[in-house]
Amino acid sequence: MNILKNSLLLLVLVTAGSCSSKSEGGMDQKASKSTHLNQEVERKIDSLLSLMTLEEKVGQMNQYNGFWDLTGPAPKEGDAAKKYDHLKSGLVGSMLNVTGVEEVRSVQKIAVEETRLGIPLIIGFDVIHGFRTISPIPLAESASWDLEAIKNSAAMAAKEAAASGINWTFAPMVDISRDARWGRVMEGAGEDPYLGSKIAVARVEGFQGSDLASPYTVAACAKHFAGYGFAEGGRDYNTVDVGTSTLYNTILPPFKAAKEAGVRTFMNAFNELNGIPATADRFLQRELLKDQWNFDGFVVSDWGSMIEMQAHGYARDRKHAAELAANAGSDMDMESYAYVNELVDLVKQGKVQESDLDDSVRRILRVKFELGLFEDPYKYLNEEREDAIVGSKEINDAALDMARKSIVLLKNKNNLLPLKRKGQKVALIGPFVSDKTSPLGSWRLAAEDGTAISLAEGMASYEDNTLRVSEGVKLSNGSNSFPMEVKVNSKDRSGFDEAVKVAKEADVVVMALGEDGFQSGEGRSRAELGLPGLQQELLEEVYKVNKNIVLVLHNGRPLAIEWADQHIPAIVEAWQLGTQSGHAIAQVLYGDYNPSGKLPVSFPRSVGQMPLYYNYKNTGRPTLPGEGVVFWSHYIDEENTPLYPFGHGLSYTEFTYDTLKVNKHTDGVQLTLTVKNNGEVAGKEVVQVYIRDHFATVTRPVKELKAFELVSLAPGEERQLQFNLTKNELGYYLNDGSFILEPGDFTVFVGGSSDTVLEETFTIEALDE
Ligand code: NOJ
Repeated sequence: MNILKNSLLLLVLVTAGSCSSKSEGGMDQKASKSTHLNQEVERKIDSLLSLMTLEEKVGQMNQYNGFWDLTGPAPKEGDAAKKYDHLKSGLVGSMLNVTGVEEVRSVQKIAVEETRLGIPLIIGFDVIHGFRTISPIPLAESASWDLEAIKNSAAMAAKEAAASGINWTFAPMVDISRDARWGRVMEGAGEDPYLGSKIAVARVEGFQGSDLASPYTVAACAKHFAGYGFAEGGRDYNTVDVGTSTLYNTILPPFKAAKEAGVRTFMNAFNELNGIPATADRFLQRELLKDQWNFDGFVVSDWGSMIEMQAHGYARDRKHAAELAANAGSDMDMESYAYVNELVDLVKQGKVQESDLDDSVRRILRVKFELGLFEDPYKYLNEEREDAIVGSKEINDAALDMARKSIVLLKNKNNLLPLKRKGQKVALIGPFVSDKTSPLGSWRLAAEDGTAISLAEGMASYEDNTLRVSEGVKLSNGSNSFPMEVKVNSKDRSGFDEAVKVAKEADVVVMALGEDGFQSGEGRSRAELGLPGLQQELLEEVYKVNKNIVLVLHNGRPLAIEWADQHIPAIVEAWQLGTQSGHAIAQVLYGDYNPSGKLPVSFPRSVGQMPLYYNYKNTGRPTLPGEGVVFWSHYIDEENTPLYPFGHGLSYTEFTYDTLKVNKHTDGVQLTLTVKNNGEVAGKEVVQVYIRDHFATVTRPVKELKAFELVSLAPGEERQLQFNLTKNELGYYLNDGSFILEPGDFTVFVGGSSDTVLEETFTIEALDE
């Protein structure tokens, strides 16, 4: 049933044929059915476009943030009134930050029932790590290396958000970053383009599902196109200047993978890339994404990124910014007010072609059609479904599952972990022990503060042990919020004495230290990577009275914790794990869940090592030429190596690797190897395969991840694994963007981290094409 009220739009839809996205039959039937559906959709878009005025086309390209009390009276004055009038006159194509069925319905009704054409809005939101129920931050999820779990986590977030009226998420962020100072490392998949690409695909598939028109899925958005993760000095929004080799081989692959997985939208970026703000980068948006990669969805700007081109020193004024962005292929303006105010004039003056506007509008309408919004603009708006799904057990169970899988055991000297289930006096110390908000992380806009299970609550469910809790120190002085700086406590040590007393009387001390949920994320770059505030001092005071410490880190980025590594016997990386945080950590600490996470980023020894990444280039002077000689690529006061390497993560059991063999075949090489669980408990291992291409037209890194597999092994079980490396894995991008496999010498490395244990060499002569 088509419930669009608007007669003009109804006419267009009916005359252009009816559209249903349900598929049936075998493969061929499916393919021809989908081509047929696509043609039908394209016909409808054409008919609709032919009815649209220039103003209405520009309207589709305009996105506004939620503005007045949407369920209250209409605003009469100020900006909100302007937006409201624009909405009523068909000058708004999308809104963001409008959530909940009631609110979304109130704006959708205006778009559908009060505008001339009644084109529905697409409703966007930052569903970055969950919606109302919060899942682990993306960096943490990436540490699971579990693509199915990550996909499921995105699917659950989509389901919950869609039940709340949302049909488009601004995720996944697929920016590779090598700099832990950058606050947004929490939002990505880490430093590696291969892992990042696989995770990008898993997230896109999770959000979008197999049917975009289902009321349980949302359109995804690959962002920030491109280079945002390479901000100089790790300072957010800062200049990005990278060479083409890094652009093609490191930055772009996850975007390309997302495109190939069918992501329906891209977001451009705040940063300039090699002198051109990404928002006005014609090469990125038109030539590469739309022409070479054949992307047929749309590109949204980042928030205000059009208007910010004035500050970048690129646009003369707002009109110029709109002209530059439109000509470069930015299809939708998020909150710059540039398109809605300037584009009509620019077209009339011939500075922007109407055909380019048509292309943008077509793309936006296409995604709206695919979401099923023309069939039923209220399809995401059902109160009963909202009540049943938001915060449901299914979503919480998935969040718990993902949280356990995201934990990384960094160190476990003398098997201090797992804790004993009986007869152990445990002290729980640190600012995060009872914190029910920080574990929700940074992108928690739709969640309520205080809704995470705290570590103390999680541990309290293991009732057999005596648990004593002491906060020890406050990390911050105030109530923290999304737009504001966290005010770190650097004076108040009043809780130290009690913490030390509690520690003295315990058999084991679990210390929960790290960063506030709002110390990483957008606008939260750091110049220091240690434990903020007085936490390091507290750790050292407690250590003086009890050395049996398990350090549980709560953080959104790699931290430089060399002192802890040298002194503290057990260290658990628990990131910001979301709503179910405390349960997940407790299950790992007590051995109900054997940790299997592996770091998706290198952990530094000190901040001066930034940018730090395992897939670096060798340089011409990689090794010490003689004791004390300075002329090699190194620091005089720090090691080159990380504290914990990319891919590192321990388990309560031990895995060994054996019999690596390389067989050449016509498409590349096949590797076989065995991995064995040598311990007494079952466990999961991420088997990692790296290569090195020893000489090339453009130099290659010392190691590059090219395959991995997550294997579950019973105690004593051994498994033979096989990996095929073909041109896709063995080749790379030249500086002109062409992909090549060059004959030559390679090494393949295998192990449970980037510090691999086995290696073999092989030569590629030339492969059959
Ligand atoms: C700015 C952020 O950079 C972007 O990632 C986000 O999606 C938008 N704001 C919308 O909130």
